[in-house]
Amino acid sequence: MDFIAATEPMHLNHLLANFGYLVSVVMFMLAIMRMGRVKTARSGNFLAAAAMLLAVVSSFVEMGQIEPWYIVGGLVVGGAVGAIMAKKVQMTQMPEMVALLNGFGGLASTFVGLATFFSMGGSGTLGQMMREGGWFGGMNLVLTLIVGSVTFTGSVIAFLKLSEKMSGKPILLPGRHVLNGILLLVPLVLGVGAVWFVQGVPVIAAVLILIVLLTFVLGVTIVIPIGGGDMPVVISLLNSYSGIAAALAGFTINEPVLVVSGSLVGASGLILTQIMCKAMNRSLANVMFGGFGAEAPTGGGGGGEYVGVKSSDPESVAMILADAGNIVIVPGYGMAVAQAQHAVREMANILEEKGANIRYAVHPVAGRMPGHMNVLLAEANVPYEQLFEMDQINDDFRNVDVVLVIGANDTVNPSAKTDKSSPLYGMPVMNVEEARTVFTMKRSLGSGFAQVKNTLFECQNNYMVYGDARKTLEEIIKALKED
Ligand code: TAP
Repeated sequence: MDFIAATEPMHLNHLLANFGYLVSVVMFMLAIMRMGRVKTARSGNFLAAAAMLLAVVSSFVEMGQIEPWYIVGGLVVGGAVGAIMAKKVQMTQMPEMVALLNGFGGLASTFVGLATFFSMGGSGTLGQMMREGGWFGGMNLVLTLIVGSVTFTGSVIAFLKLSEKMSGKPILLPGRHVLNGILLLVPLVLGVGAVWFVQGVPVIAAVLILIVLLTFVLGVTIVIPIGGGDMPVVISLLNSYSGIAAALAGFTINEPVLVVSGSLVGASGLILTQIMCKAMNRSLANVMFGGFGAEAPTGGGGGGEYVGVKSSDPESVAMILADAGNIVIVPGYGMAVAQAQHAVREMANILEEKGANIRYAVHPVAGRMPGHMNVLLAEANVPYEQLFEMDQINDDFRNVDVVLVIGANDTVNPSAKTDKSSPLYGMPVMNVEEARTVFTMKRSLGSGFAQVKNTLFECQNNYMVYGDARKTLEEIIKALKED
């Protein structure tokens, strides 16, 4: 049985498909807008998924006669793999899952490029063989292969680093910039050769496969010098690449919806990359080529002994909290590691019952992925109105009775404001030291992502509360309940 009756006139299929494409593009745009706010992000995700389904169905409608079992089989197998992966993934493993999905997107574009060539036939150069676009179409196909393949292997390395299946330390190959330059230039030159000079299917096929293999290697050599901690930025960039590869593939197979959706992904990935770099006070070039994290920083911001650090214990913290009216909770990466978000919420509930005003201050790069803290706090049903971005709350810390820093480190380091030798210098940080009392919950005086000394720990009004954040919070809750 045909998916679309063969007797239907083709122009109706085209009309229906184009209408479907148009609607799905508008849905994609609305979905991205909704994803910009925590409250509407979930519905934005559903809308984007529905738009993708509509785009897929529309392209089948456009193709006309098609064997239904391919579609059903593809949807069932692909959908089942995606559903199982999404169900099993822990929130902290989200960046590595996104890395894999980007990689598959890139690989799919490479396959589209290769399949287009192998289904073409004909004679002459690649430019002459292209049914549409001539040399432009040929070069576009070459670029699809290059960007898609780099995205694939780059994303696989990002996945391996984040999942700690390979060392997160930067691996700095000697002469890596020259090597990367060569690995980019040679495929481009080979591509030009295929489009204008080399003739015949077997030779062009060999050239295209060589391009794919070389750019597979390029993806690896570009990403291995980047430290595991910088992987979220790299993933965001690779996400953008996967969009660009899809857009190029869209040009190759003359599929406008792929061009539009790929461009949306490409642009939004690039914007997110910029936002992350800005919030970390690093340039994209520094993230990509700086080998950040290969060595501990040696300047004034690095290492160093701590002097005059005071500590406290959960019972004492509970006593102070019980009398505090104005409390701000500052979560960081350690809260995610300890999975302490539910305990945070439980403690906040008890304190609210005692009459305290509770707010949460969220730094834009707290944790290891954009929105990391928001997602965890939302999981624990923290009300949105209690969440404050750094800019909204930073001037108010001087009026706060108690700040609870829960597994945050770099994002509350005051030396980022004063120490020019610190790698954090210039990064906007939370002014927690301005509050009356600060309790910093972490396991040790160990450094955070940027591997620098945190001068907050030496402040007169700061007390370290050592231990796993969740255990500490559970003990505070116990003490508050006994109060
Ligand atoms: P970090 O500076 O990374 O510090 C996290 C702290 O959590 C560590 O010092 C660690 O100290 C503590 N910790 C770990 N496990 C813990 C546990 N079980 N219980 C309690 N504490 C625990 O955290 P941050 O303030 O969130 O800063 C984020 C950093 O990551 C920034 O430098 C940012 O630039 C970088 N970064 C962020 C992103 C995004 S998009 N969010 C992307 C890339 C890089 P102990 O070992 O002493 O416990």
